[in-house]
Amino acid sequence: MADASPLARPEPGPRVILLGPPGAGKGTQAARLAARLGLPRISTGDMLREAIAAGTPLGSQAGPLMERGELVPDELLIGIVGERLRRSDCAAGFILDGFPRTVRQAEGFAGMDENARAGRLVVVNVEVPRAELLRRLSGRRWCPSCQATYHVDNNPPRHDALCDREGARLIQREDDKEVAVARRLAEYEERTAPLIDYYRTRSRFHTIDGYLAVDQVFGALTGILEGGQ
Ligand code: AP5
Ligand code: MG
Repeated sequence: MADASPLARPEPGPRVILLGPPGAGKGTQAARLAARLGLPRISTGDMLREAIAAGTPLGSQAGPLMERGELVPDELLIGIVGERLRRSDCAAGFILDGFPRTVRQAEGFAGMDENARAGRLVVVNVEVPRAELLRRLSGRRWCPSCQATYHVDNNPPRHDALCDREGARLIQREDDKEVAVARRLAEYEERTAPLIDYYRTRSRFHTIDGYLAVDQVFGALTGILEGGQ
């Protein structure tokens, strides 16, 4: 007979952080991984864009910074992610896409989740050459209604410029324009890339080749997570 003791809790699932520069494919892979593992995907970029669309105080503060390609202040991000992780759907694990982005955020995250500290944390660093990042970001199109992401060459919608799911007209994100992209890449180098060294010794850390096709990158990712590496 199954053990009905209240002490017999299910094994906590993985806490996954996808690290990588803008355009590396974090969002694309996080969405697929979330569906495959049945875990919530927590995308701070999406949360901030929703706040902007809803006209909240957070959105008003974040909007101009995001449009210029600058990072939003650490304490705001630590606040919204901390709140999100306290929801019950995160107890079995989660996939973080776009957070942490600075060492300060990583330190904030370390205080939020005891399972992440207790060996359940898997960090996957997605590497892509700069020229490919520029190609991906300039060709990306986005659904303002459901946040689905497309690419004019690699992943076009079925009907010209319309979202497959919602039928809404696709647009180019303001921060995918040239000046903002340059700023985002510079912010990444200066403030996010140091997390590679930070997590090497504090997690099960892996680097994957994000320059491969979407399915191949996904194969590498699931190999790591399902192979328990
Ligand atoms: P965020 O939305 O997180 O943007 P980002 O990190 O700049 O990353 P992207 O969403 O541009 O790229 P991605 O890696 O998700 O790639 P994607 O899968 O879309 O953040 C936006 C802004 O919000 C920040 O600049 C900042 O202001 C603020 N912010 C968010 N989080 C924050 C935080 N923690 N702290 C402070 N500020 C924060 O793919 C890109 C394109 O490539 C798509 O068109 C896709 O179809 C295509 N593609 C994907 N994979 C492949 C592949 N393997 N081969 C070919 N094409 C591919
Ligand atoms: Mg993204």
